[in-house]
Amino acid sequence: MNYRHAYHAGNFADVYKHSVLIALIETLKIKPTPFCYLETHAGKGLYSLLDPESQKTLEYVSGIQRIWEIEPKTQEIRFYAHLVARFNQQQLRYYPGSPLLVAALLRPEDRGILVELHPEEIQLLKTSLRHNRQLAIHQGEGYLALKAFLPPKEKRGLLLIDPPFEQQQEEFGSILNSLKLIHQRWRQGIVLIWYPIKHRHSIERFHQQLKKSPFEKILVAELLLFPDDNALKLNGSGLILLNAPWQFEQVIGSILVELKELLAIDPRFAKVNLGSLK
Ligand SMILES: C[S@@+](CC[C@H](N)C(=O)[O-])C[C@H]1O[C@@H](n2cnc3c(N)ncnc32)[C@H](O)[C@@H]1O
Repeated sequence: MNYRHAYHAGNFADVYKHSVLIALIETLKIKPTPFCYLETHAGKGLYSLLDPESQKTLEYVSGIQRIWEIEPKTQEIRFYAHLVARFNQQQLRYYPGSPLLVAALLRPEDRGILVELHPEEIQLLKTSLRHNRQLAIHQGEGYLALKAFLPPKEKRGLLLIDPPFEQQQEEFGSILNSLKLIHQRWRQGIVLIWYPIKHRHSIERFHQQLKKSPFEKILVAELLLFPDDNALKLNGSGLILLNAPWQFEQVIGSILVELKELLAIDPRFAKVNLGSLK
C-alpha cells in the first residue's frame, strides 16, 4: 500500500475521470427516484496542490490547471470546472477527489457508501466529510466490501472502481473477478472503472476478458496523450462503463473531444478511443 493519490490529484486522468463521473451523477438525477453511489477506493477527499507530494510531481499543472485558466466549451467540463472552483478562491489551491465532488451533487434523498483501506487516508476522508450525513465511510478492502454493500436498497445507482494499480495485472484480475459478483447482485447498476493506459498489450488482454463478462453493455472510452507503447509511463486514461445510461456515449464523446484538445502535450500523439466492447 504505497500508493498515495496526493502525488496525482488533479492530473489529466483525474480531470477526465471526474468530468465523466459528474456527468453520470447528473444523469442519475434526471429521475426523481433516489439512487445510491458506491466507491471501492475513495482516497482522502481533499488534496492541497501546495503539499510536497503535489509539488514534487506537478501533475496537476498539465491537468486541472489547464482547465482552470479557460472557459470550457462542453457543458459537462464547464460544470466540473465550476465544482472544482467551489473548493477554491481566486487561486487554484485545492483539488476535490471523487467523494467530495459527489457529496456536492447528491440530492437529500440520495446516499453513498465510500470504502478506503489506508488508515491515514480514511481519517482525512472522515474529516473532510464530517458534516455529511448522506455518505457512509468504511475502512476496508474495496473489492471485499462489495459483498457487504451490494445490492443497495435503492436499486438504481453508480459504482466507481478506481484502484491504485500498483500491480497492473493483479488489479485487472481483481476487477474482472469482482464483476461476477456485481452482476449477480446488481446487474442493473451503472459501473465506472478507471484504468491506466501504459502498454497496449496488457489493455487488450483486459478488454478480451471483459468481453466474457456477463454484462451486456460495455463501453470503452480512452483518452491518450502519448503513444501506448511504454509500460513505465501513464500514456493515457481509460474508462469502462457498464450499463451506460441512454445516449451517454455521446456525452463521453464530447468530453473526450474537448479534453483531447485542452490536455494534449503534443497534438501529434493525443488520441481518443470510444466504442462498445459488446
Ligand atoms: C486512485 S486513488 C482513489 C482516488 C479517488 N477515487 C478519487 O477519484 O478522488 C486509490 C485509493 O485506493 C486506496 N486503496 C489502496 N488499496 C486499497 C484496497 N485494497 N481497498 C480499498 N482502498 C484501497 C488508496 O489508499 C488510494 O487512496
